[in-house]
Amino acid sequence: MARSATEDVELGGVRIPAGSFVAVSLGAANRDPERYPDPDAFNVGREDKQHISFGDGAHKCLGMHLARWKCGCC
Ligand code: HEM
Repeated sequence: MARSATEDVELGGVRIPAGSFVAVSLGAANRDPERYPDPDAFNVGREDKQHISFGDGAHKCLGMHLARWKCGCC
């Protein structure tokens, strides 16, 4: 995903000046070993389902319920 910073912000110890272009990798975030145990294992029974594949916040995917229809895993 792409965003541009409208104001100076600090995230994870990194200063992002206003006007910067930021490329965010959701796939990398979903495999963060500090967030998920054994993040690279394919595990549809995983209890922690707080992934961000559908984004988050104001622009969270409007079609997520349709995409998940009959999925049952997340
Ligand atoms: C597995 C399927 C899908 C995935 C992984 C997915 C993922 C995403 C993600 C990550 C975003 C956020 C983009 C951002 O923040 O810049 C998004 C937004 C959006 N998605 Fe999906 N999506 C899926 C299916 C669908 C479907 C089926 C629809 C509609 C039928 C849909 C409609 C939208 C719309 C309209 C937005 C923009 C929401 C906004 O900006 O307010 N998506 N999607």
